[in-house]
Amino acid sequence: MTPALRDQTTLYLTAGIVLQSSDKDGYTLAWGRGSDREYFATDSADLAGLLISMPQTVSAARAQQLIAEKLGASGTAAVEVVRNLLDYGYWCTEPSGLSTGEQTWIGLGWEDALDYHRASSRTIWSHDYSGSPQVMTRNLVDQNVQPDTPRPERWRASITESLPLPAPGPIPADFWDVHDSRRTHRNFSGTSIDLGDLATILGLTFKPRFPESSPYLYTTQSYSLGAPFNAFVITGGSGAPPEIRQDFAVYHYDPVEHALGLVQADTGIGQLDDLMWSQSYVNDAPAMLVICVDWQQYMWKYRFPRAYRFALTECGAFMQTVQVLANAIGLRSFATPAIDDMAMCKTLGVSDVDHSPLYMAALGRSN
Ligand SMILES: Cc1cc2nc3c(=O)[nH]c(=O)nc-3n(C[C@H](O)[C@H](O)[C@H](O)COP(=O)(O)O)c2cc1C
Repeated sequence: MTPALRDQTTLYLTAGIVLQSSDKDGYTLAWGRGSDREYFATDSADLAGLLISMPQTVSAARAQQLIAEKLGASGTAAVEVVRNLLDYGYWCTEPSGLSTGEQTWIGLGWEDALDYHRASSRTIWSHDYSGSPQVMTRNLVDQNVQPDTPRPERWRASITESLPLPAPGPIPADFWDVHDSRRTHRNFSGTSIDLGDLATILGLTFKPRFPESSPYLYTTQSYSLGAPFNAFVITGGSGAPPEIRQDFAVYHYDPVEHALGLVQADTGIGQLDDLMWSQSYVNDAPAMLVICVDWQQYMWKYRFPRAYRFALTECGAFMQTVQVLANAIGLRSFATPAIDDMAMCKTLGVSDVDHSPLYMAALGRSN
């Protein structure tokens, strides 16, 4: 319960207030963390502007006066608005200040990341499997909310030709050799890759394998029942497999057919680092593997934004499988998420808000 408000009570603005949206229906401001995050909607541009630009400290009397002026409201109504804003944490009656950690984030220019971190941390959510629901998590509601749309289908790229891949394997590697020898490589000069190598890495990472009769689970632990990621291959120069197009053609891996589908034969790329903010380590690689997240798959199952984090963690795990396999079959790898998003999306023919390129690996075998 909010303490009694006197005119001279000092009100301290909470940290991290953002204007979340503004459109023809009005304005929404947000503040607070996770499940305690508050959303304040108003159709008054003046009030939204006032709240977003409020001084760090203000007396209760001054706050009431400012709000009365902006809203053209009576003194009584303004008192009510101030009290509600205090109840909802827009103001506090004690200074809270920024923690040293928050100051570091802000000092480095990580305000946007801090905003998402605040919004998605401390989320209170729970799992409820009773009745085998399609969506078993709930957040801010007292019963699970099931989607009113069908589960999204596995995404299919628009392709002009399809090339079946050989079966994955064999992998004549000793676990300890693989364990001890994986390293990042930054030189792909003179390397090559064959179709069998691509088939092994793509098939064992991106094709669901379990249970055998009707597979929907992967070697990598993943978002269950879904098709969270899409893998693309961009071919390098002469070391690329002779059966497929060389010189920066783009293929999408179809995990159902275990086939490569040609998305673009002529991308106009001069060298692979055109897509990598000039990290020239990738330039001589015969193949670049790119993992894109299919956001719909996450949004359908997880109805709250914390799931943005799940996509990143799971993508890292899929890349780990790629790198372990690559090492096991004798390929070098260099992996980084330092992708030029716009250039990569244009090359792959995807939209960043539907299918974001999250991680890439350059691959090649020393000859
Ligand atoms: C998320 C992530 C991003 C990375 N980004 C880069 C990068 O942009 N450029 C680079 O040279 N190495 C990058 N690396 C590779 C690391 O620098 C490399 O793994 C490190 O040098 C350790 O070597 P190791 O992989 O042989 O253990 C990245 C690694 C990770 C996990």
